[in-house]
Amino acid sequence: MIKTKNLKKVYVTEEVETTALNDVNLEIKDGEFCAIMGPSGCGKSTLLNIMGLLDNPTEGEYHFMDHEISDHSERERAQLRKGNIGFIFQSFNLIDELTVFENVELPLLYLGVDSKERKEKVEAALERMGMMHRRNHFPQQLSGGQQQRVAIARAVVANAKLILADEPTGNLDSDHGDEVMKLLAELNDAGTTIVMVTHSPHDADYARRVIHLFDGHVVTENMQEGFHV
Ligand SMILES: Nc1ncnc2c1ncn2[C@@H]1O[C@H](COP(=O)(O)OP(=O)(O)OP(=O)(O)O)[C@@H](O)[C@H]1O
Ligand SMILES: [Mg+2]
Repeated sequence: MIKTKNLKKVYVTEEVETTALNDVNLEIKDGEFCAIMGPSGCGKSTLLNIMGLLDNPTEGEYHFMDHEISDHSERERAQLRKGNIGFIFQSFNLIDELTVFENVELPLLYLGVDSKERKEKVEAALERMGMMHRRNHFPQQLSGGQQQRVAIARAVVANAKLILADEPTGNLDSDHGDEVMKLLAELNDAGTTIVMVTHSPHDADYARRVIHLFDGHVVTENMQEGFHV
């Protein structure tokens, strides 16, 4: 599903150049569950953004679902992203002015799905995340764990093949964090590829493979025993 070759990302601002990623070579296969760990500033979010087609690398190749995308335009990337990739963020990133139902419906609106099918799909996703009873609530009326469940419903509603999660439990207490991790593990069992950035060794235990980044480099990759325990 994902392959990078000598991937490099340099941010240039007026005063400084920052090399966020340097010579990253990775392969992530269909159906994998990978965790990315490493100290603050080592390039985890940068890597996730490039994997999610939100940003282009400065140098190197990025292959996503058989497309080499490093020279794709913004528009081409958006096209490929739609329906294929779902994002989950530490801060949930729900739209406060929209209800739970409307938040989850958004990706389907972008895809031009008709209203009857939208309703079915949104309800199925909310059902799967145990959030149907809050469908008419606004995000601010929900607990953190509930907001993240809605965000997961939004990430999966269009049948994304790849879920990218950037510290999905970072703002949750351990019980709600575990609940979110169990939902991600269930999605993975059902075939969705997951790449998750985390600072928590406990959360990383849910993954099959842990990739350690340091200073923009991959330093180690470990396969884990007792996956999904
Ligand atoms: N838009 C940007 N412009 C300039 N530099 C940036 C930009 N985004 C990130 N960086 C720099 O790139 C490096 C990697 O940042 P990144 O956000 O990927 O780190 P991270 O591993 O996700 O850290 P954290 O664990 O704190 O979230 C950092 O040194 C950061 O300062
Ligand atoms: Mg980050």
